Amino acid sequence: MVTEFVSAEGIFRRNDRTLEYLEFAEAERPVGVQLFGSNPEHLGEAARMVIDWKQPDFIDLNFGCPVNKVVSKNGGSALLRDCPLLEKIARAVVRACDPVPVTAKIRIGWSESTINAPTTARILEDAGVAAVAVHGRTKEQGYSGAANWDIIGQTAAAVKIPVIGNGDLASATDVAARRNSGVSGVMLGRAAMSAPWIFSEIKHFLATGELLPSPPLASQWMQIRRHCELHVQRRGDEAAAMHSMRARLMAYSRGMPEAKGLRGKFQHVGTLAEVEEIAHESITRAAQTEPVT
Ligand SMILES: Cc1cc2nc3c(=O)[nH]c(=O)nc-3n(C[C@H](O)[C@H](O)[C@H](O)COP(=O)(O)O)c2cc1C
Repeated sequence: MVTEFVSAEGIFRRNDRTLEYLEFAEAERPVGVQLFGSNPEHLGEAARMVIDWKQPDFIDLNFGCPVNKVVSKNGGSALLRDCPLLEKIARAVVRACDPVPVTAKIRIGWSESTINAPTTARILEDAGVAAVAVHGRTKEQGYSGAANWDIIGQTAAAVKIPVIGNGDLASATDVAARRNSGVSGVMLGRAAMSAPWIFSEIKHFLATGELLPSPPLASQWMQIRRHCELHVQRRGDEAAAMHSMRARLMAYSRGMPEAKGLRGKFQHVGTLAEVEEIAHESITRAAQTEPVT
């Protein structure tokens, strides 16, 4: 488990909003805090501060974010085309964190014509990074097109440290199919946002070969409501919490019956009671439209 990326500069300057992103629960361990930035000294210093404050199990470096705001400041995936700076960052952070392990997340390259994940992974390995996660897309692809698992496999073959493959895994069978690509593990992104229960489904399938059906709609809603309640508890301010839950609710709606209608409702949701009402309606309608056998 890794936190969302956190700005090393924000930590360095002790920005209060940035520090909120460092929160995690003990139950989430082993957990890493992911940092992004472009200044090796500041990243090293920020990583040390995070370790002193929060004692994460590891620090993860983001070399994959394609967002302009990050890339224009030479952070995230911009470092894939500046390997000397990427190496300096990795070395500075590994040194600052010792003995806490440092991992990294990369993409396969900046563009189709500059794919360099095997080289990048070797540089990171030499710098002392303990494991590398590879998202099988280029920066230029963003989130479109397909993840290139051949390059992920080539990256795994190029280094001795564990390589974790990432990209387009949306089911237990997807994960099983990618197991033989040479990776030591897999990482799931978007599928986990719409169906967090996917991890139990994958574990069950790998252990037994049996595909579990999705949880019944009512129990999916129970988890969604619990997620909302926990978020409100944590934020304290119900309106603000529910506003920031809207994107999460949109993701949950994928794969649910009448997803489009749900998305329309989630756009305006502002209270827990409203979520309760939407859940009730959704479960009732699904029961009414269930085929009679
Ligand atoms: C909304 C969103 C936020 C993301 N935030 C991060 C992030 O903070 N750090 C990171 O390493 N990857 C981040 N990613 C990328 C995912 O971790 C993952 O690499 C990517 O979505 C491909 O995997 P998937 O096909 O399983 O989703 C994000 C992706 C999305 C869609």
